[in-house]
Amino acid sequence: MLTPQYSIRSHVAEQLSADLIGTTVTLAGWVAKRRDHGGLIFVDIRDRSAIVQCTFDPDQSGEAFALAETIRPEWVVKVTGVVAARPEGTVNPHMVTGEVEVLVHELEVLNRSNTPPFEIEDDTDTDEKIRMQWRYLDIRRPEMTRTLELRSKVTQAFRSALEDLGFIEVETPILCKSTPEGARDFIVPSRLNVAKFYALPQSPQLFKQLLMVGGVERYFQIARCFRDEDLRADRQPEFTQVDIEMSFVTQDDVLGMTEEVMARVMESIGESIEIPLQRMTYDDAMERYGIDRPDIRFGLYLVDLSDIAATCGFGVFANAVKEGGVVKAINAKGGAEFSRSRIDALEQVAKEAGAKGMAWIAFSGDGTVKGPIAKFLAEEEITAIRDRLEVQDGDLIVFGAGERDIVNEALGLVRLALADELGIVREGFAPLWIIDFPLFRRDDEDTRWVANHHPFTRPFDEDLERLESDPGAVGSYSHDLVMNGFEVGGGTLRIHDADLQRRVLGVLGHDEDAAREQFGFLLEALDFGAPPHGGIALGLDRLVMLLAGHDSIREVIAFPKTSSGSDPMLGAPDSVSQTQLKEAHLRID
Ligand code: AMO
Ligand code: AMP
Repeated sequence: MLTPQYSIRSHVAEQLSADLIGTTVTLAGWVAKRRDHGGLIFVDIRDRSAIVQCTFDPDQSGEAFALAETIRPEWVVKVTGVVAARPEGTVNPHMVTGEVEVLVHELEVLNRSNTPPFEIEDDTDTDEKIRMQWRYLDIRRPEMTRTLELRSKVTQAFRSALEDLGFIEVETPILCKSTPEGARDFIVPSRLNVAKFYALPQSPQLFKQLLMVGGVERYFQIARCFRDEDLRADRQPEFTQVDIEMSFVTQDDVLGMTEEVMARVMESIGESIEIPLQRMTYDDAMERYGIDRPDIRFGLYLVDLSDIAATCGFGVFANAVKEGGVVKAINAKGGAEFSRSRIDALEQVAKEAGAKGMAWIAFSGDGTVKGPIAKFLAEEEITAIRDRLEVQDGDLIVFGAGERDIVNEALGLVRLALADELGIVREGFAPLWIIDFPLFRRDDEDTRWVANHHPFTRPFDEDLERLESDPGAVGSYSHDLVMNGFEVGGGTLRIHDADLQRRVLGVLGHDEDAAREQFGFLLEALDFGAPPHGGIALGLDRLVMLLAGHDSIREVIAFPKTSSGSDPMLGAPDSVSQTQLKEAHLRID
């Protein structure tokens, strides 16, 4: 709670309740609204804590009334007056201070304001770019203030929970050397070292591992990370991680610690989660949900029908299986009466993920089976589909056929769209673990192996023998914390043996020399008695976004970047002077 500790005011708005009726108070804040009404002026005054109605009556104080006639929105004022009950019928249940008003007898203008470019109130439909250009005005909106308060609370809860568990907060450098987390680095030229560059950290990954070699045993940091990647609603070029690392632990220890900390964080904001959390393997998530960050607040599972489809009369299905692909389906419960255009829209979702189409059949209420492919399916195939998908009359079945990855991705997205359409997403938070990711995956061009998490992830002991011979089949001690369809955190156990680290780097295409060049300091450190260690990093922005019920992380960052990576308020990024370029030994091409 905001308290008026300092000298200018006696109270803050949220303190004004019926208990204070008759008390003289002094408030300071911004003019949110002024209304002139039959000889009285009502001014809503906003401070960080709340908004309160102040009333100016010429019979009480002519001077204050005259000045009140001149004040405008966003002027900064100080008022002194008596707290009074609002007249019968004017109580406002939507305001914290809705039962009372302040009958003002003294008004002082502390500062004036230009007319703001948008009205400072919640439920704004102001263009986001405008809000970002005048972010300091946007932050005055109570909703933004509440979000910043929530973020602060969550951050403090992490700090105190981790400290209670014996973790110490250690800061690591911002000017450093490339740490591969799969994105492009931001680079900073060095003035003192000609033609040399620092890279901004994509995460403190290597530093935290070095801290484990240093014997810190339990480290955390509220760490700023920088990644030069294409931005989305849940991605910013700079973002914040709650970065955690521990020594002498198993994966169960890391998960258990994270659950305990998360439970405390949720409790600190009046929410709760049930721990231990559900654990689902990566393979199961892909099979049942088509995605490695499943939203488990609703059903609509992907079901494999390849065996039934292999011999069916619909060529697309039979061929998909013949060519080594799959046929999968979702039972969209109660969707049989969807219009053609709704189904077409769902098909479009599938196509955007690379699917060639989205076949469907509808089991209508009168017992008939409808849809363009129904005629290709034999009676017993329909029955088999009905049984496997537990179909009832009124259900719609949508199909994907083709390569497994494409079908999973397409149906995974259709599943989300269907849940929205059917309005079946339940309220609340549904966190779970996704574990056992493959150590490697093919890059987008399918030319080489890349690390699924990062190159420092420890392979399963039992898979070490096929590390070089069959990299795609190697599993890893890895864990993502997923909530409501978002990846809120990710981590792994680490390689603590230099030889194994060299082998993994080898599979990733770094020969001995390249490995030494880029990761020499790590390989060297691992040779000085590195303890077994592991950890996790939680995306603070994404977590707070979910907790605040927003759908963009920009809403929970005080000064975010636009989707093109710019800050319209600062005008950043910007060109620099010739002198600055020269000092950095740079010339613009
Ligand atoms: P990872 O790359 O999975 O792991 O990042 C951890 C978490 O950080 C969040 N996150 C982001 N949030 C906003 N904008 C971004 N551009 C962005 N990128 C990632 C996500 C993600 O789950 N060093 C490892 C952690 C470890 O192994 O301990 C790492 O950085 O919520
Ligand atoms: P077509 O034979 O192309 O006219 O397609 C008939 C139906 O099958 C349409 O509803 C298509 O959307 C669907 N379809 C085509 N290709 C696929 C596929 N790979 N997976 C699922 N459905 C498909």
